Amino acid sequence: MAQAFTEPLLLAALAAREHAHAPFSKFKVGAALQETEGRIHTGCNVENATYGLTICAERVAVFKAVSEGARRFLRIAVAADTESLTPPCGACRQILWEFCGNLEIVLVNPHGRKEVLRLEELFPRPFDVSYL
Ligand code: THU
Repeated sequence: MAQAFTEPLLLAALAAREHAHAPFSKFKVGAALQETEGRIHTGCNVENATYGLTICAERVAVFKAVSEGARRFLRIAVAADTESLTPPCGACRQILWEFCGNLEIVLVNPHGRKEVLRLEELFPRPFDVSYL
């Protein structure tokens, strides 16, 4: 199949998806998080035999980025092979809000489908540090 996208961020999310460790669900997800300065940090879901210790692609990308000193983010691309594009789960929405604020979220699949959202649309009334 011809490559569906040319944007580096979307290609990075699709490529990261290929590294998913998903022997239990077989549901592979990739994420690519872009800093305001341009650097891209990728992640894939990493499952565990206990199930509960599984971590999603989005959180892997955020934690990798934060651990490398990144703090200001522009957008994240999330790739899964679903016709109805896969959004970040509730736990990932909380983590994305904490570290990235109301960032742009680009959902894609390997067949060229794409949708652009803002985190605020998926997570309208977040709990955060402003309540503490
Ligand atoms: N998963 C993600 O990595 N990101 C999402 O946005 C949705 C779900 C993973 C977790 C688990 O490994 C598999 O997909 C099925 O839930």
